Amino acid sequence: MTGPGAVHPADPDGHGILLVDDEPAILESLELTLTPEHRVFTAGTGEQALEILDKEDIALIIADQVMPGMTGVEILEQVSERSPRTIRMLLTGYADMDSLVRAINEGRIYRYLPKPWDPDELRMNVRRALEAYQLAWENTQLAGALAEANEKLRAENLYLRGEVESRYSFEGVVGDSPAMQRVFDVMKKVSETDATVLLTGETGTGKDVIAKTIHYVGPRKEKRFVAQNCGALPDTLLESELFGHKKGAFTGAHADKEGLFQIADGGTIFLDEIGETEPGMQVRLLRVLQDGEIRPLGSSDTRKVNVRVIAATNKDLEKAVEEGRFRDDLYYRLRVVEIPVPPLRERREDVPALAHHFLDRVAHRMGRELSGFTNAAMDRLCSADWPGNVRELENEIERVVALAGDERMVGVEMLSEHVRGGSAAREGTVAPAIASEPNMALAVEALKRHMIVQSLRDTGNKTRAAERLGIPRQSLQKMIKRLEIRDAEIEGEES
Ligand SMILES: Nc1ncnc2c1ncn2[C@@H]1O[C@H](COP(=O)(O)OP(=O)(O)OP(=O)(O)O)[C@@H](O)[C@H]1O
Ligand SMILES: [Mg+2]
Repeated sequence: MTGPGAVHPADPDGHGILLVDDEPAILESLELTLTPEHRVFTAGTGEQALEILDKEDIALIIADQVMPGMTGVEILEQVSERSPRTIRMLLTGYADMDSLVRAINEGRIYRYLPKPWDPDELRMNVRRALEAYQLAWENTQLAGALAEANEKLRAENLYLRGEVESRYSFEGVVGDSPAMQRVFDVMKKVSETDATVLLTGETGTGKDVIAKTIHYVGPRKEKRFVAQNCGALPDTLLESELFGHKKGAFTGAHADKEGLFQIADGGTIFLDEIGETEPGMQVRLLRVLQDGEIRPLGSSDTRKVNVRVIAATNKDLEKAVEEGRFRDDLYYRLRVVEIPVPPLRERREDVPALAHHFLDRVAHRMGRELSGFTNAAMDRLCSADWPGNVRELENEIERVVALAGDERMVGVEMLSEHVRGGSAAREGTVAPAIASEPNMALAVEALKRHMIVQSLRDTGNKTRAAERLGIPRQSLQKMIKRLEIRDAEIEGEES
């Protein structure tokens, strides 16, 4: 931009023109030629000219070459430094051809005006110069706007990508159902705190991955995340694993051993299957949670540790407390924040995203081309019951990929028998599946499938089945193909 307070009216005539000449008569005559149309400033010396240049928005400067102080070329040289976009013209007689040629060659002037000048030609040259200035100005404005728009778009893209990613997953934990979105919200909040978290939910729902994610998105991520399955070891061994032991604490304790609580100091310990712990262990855990103190087996000293505890169970802990198998004080300490992870059948909307997630991963690992599922196969995956939850779905996809040939898509025939049958087929009627299906599209598909199979069974041929269904035979044909309804199903072998 030119000097301070630069105003750039869209009209080229609004820009300032600066005339520099030591001869007042010439200045006056130039001014008269240009004034009716333009904003004209005049200066008798180079110094004056530069002062005006600093204050005004000068699009064009016309300087006389021969002057007592600075020459025209010298003035224009300064102008090109102070206001590079101002268009520079030199007014000169033929006598000074040398300096004129040099100035042109060195790119310091835009054009020279011969003395004496023809007023019309002068006006035309000035107009062209102003248009050139205006164009250059508009270009920089546009380039600026473009750069700004690009930057905005880039930021928006990043934001959108983040949005999409966070909509379908949270740091690798996949799920776009409202239920999982709520889980993600809580995960985000608790990850920033040290609060003890209790994860509850059926086997395979993702408690392990959620525990890890809470650790790795939080401020403790630089420190260790350690996990211990509390149901896997007899009490003494579990105690030694968690709290460490002194040499000779028990038969086989040949050396001092650090416990997981110490290893995880500053980090997180994940106590899986917390419901399986014995009463003695429950007391020791209560002490860590209350006082942050551990005592290695065989030692008389206690040590302070700073460990964040995340516990998990697929048992009903509340019931265990009622029945006296689990200490209520420990239970309340553990469930400062409880995150119930819903079973997969209660969030079937997650199945497509999860299935694709596993397919991509496994197909890549096994070098297969499989890139998706047929609609019918996805329907079956979505309507299966998945008692083993996400783990079972993951295993199913692994199995499919391992057994696949050169198929591109996973079709119904590639799924395991029990998945293929779906709950509807198993129960022999579609009604319960529809009643429990929260997703309208899936319920409609299930109903279509049921009606088609039923009328084909009852009528024994497609023409009559189509008549009974009140649809053209071709539509029926298409639906049978799309839903991948096989003869075996119609013959009732699968129900
Ligand atoms: N939301 C999810 N996104 C991606 N993968 C998941 C998700 N939930 C579970 N998984 C995967 O499913 C498998 C089982 O999950 P995980 O081990 O966390 O279940 P769990 O609840 O701890 O089961 P258990 O009670 O049997 O210990 C793992 O391989 C895990 O990576
Ligand atoms: Mg687990």
